[in-house]
Amino acid sequence: MSRTLDRTDRSARLQAAWDAAWNHGVVDALNDLLSPAYLRRRGPAGTEQDRAEFKASISAVREAFPDLRTEIEDLAEDGDRVAVRWHSTGRHTGTFLGVPPTGRTVEVSGATFARFDGDTVTEEWVTFDSRQLLESLGIITTGHAAAIDPDQVRGVHRKFITGVTVVTTDDNGTPKGLAVNAFSSISLDPPMVLVCVQRSSSTHPALHRSTHLGISILAADQLDVAKTFASKNENKFADISWTPGTHGAPLIDGSSAQLEVEIAERLEVGSHTVFTGRVTSARHDERAPLVYSGGGFFDISQTAPLPW
Ligand SMILES: Cc1cc2nc3c(=O)[nH]c(=O)nc-3n(C[C@H](O)[C@H](O)[C@H](O)COP(=O)(O)O)c2cc1C
Repeated sequence: MSRTLDRTDRSARLQAAWDAAWNHGVVDALNDLLSPAYLRRRGPAGTEQDRAEFKASISAVREAFPDLRTEIEDLAEDGDRVAVRWHSTGRHTGTFLGVPPTGRTVEVSGATFARFDGDTVTEEWVTFDSRQLLESLGIITTGHAAAIDPDQVRGVHRKFITGVTVVTTDDNGTPKGLAVNAFSSISLDPPMVLVCVQRSSSTHPALHRSTHLGISILAADQLDVAKTFASKNENKFADISWTPGTHGAPLIDGSSAQLEVEIAERLEVGSHTVFTGRVTSARHDERAPLVYSGGGFFDISQTAPLPW
């Protein structure tokens, strides 16, 4: 039987259990506060954690930040709800979110909304400033570097030899695409890649609307295809032979390799957007790739391999 508690009792119990769990690692102190059916929802996606998972996550955070301090900065009650504004700080001395120890002092602020049923919390909604967390871990930085000569930067990029890809998508039935050499593998497990597309590109809005994109690595005999997709032609696909991938993104026939990618993140960085994505299909054949270097195109099969 649940009993009705007065406000001070609920707040005092919540504060005591939080202090024990977050500041002293006594996560079992939450057993009295959180109902066995407790669910914690985090972030805009409402990712769910049950009581055991929540307790394990506090222990994991405390392993990465052993001197963690969580202060309750504000607390308000309304009916069966308790709202808490909190601030946590701790030194990063253990691996966290895959980031090895940095020794940085990390700060995170957030708010938790708890719903009591009698004397236990059955549900919590948690929201926190994940950007502040990533910044204090040094994963993202917002500082501005000193001004640098853009010609020098361009000159450096011209020294980097790349292939040429055509990045495509199906824009509600209309094929869209552009030539891209800013392509890279990010991870093999899971297989993740990235492409950087200028915001001024006419393909850019379609890549924001789509869930998938195609990447065709052009073959040495596809210079004309590279030129077409580096152009602003209204219908670049008119004279190109292509095949739609599983999710509709055009894959260029005769290219040396092809990937289909489910877009994972869109990171706005300066003039470009970095599209990261999970590879959903991959194929390649013996065709030599087209090479781009210093503003010119080359056939790699005409170059001499160096002994290595
Ligand atoms: C070899 C080569 C590589 C290119 N790489 C990129 C790139 O990585 N990202 C990009 O946004 N544009 C790149 N471009 C430029 C675009 O292909 C070009 O601006 C194109 O006209 C854009 O077409 P759209 O506006 O129809 O999308 C490259 C062009 C060439 C010739």
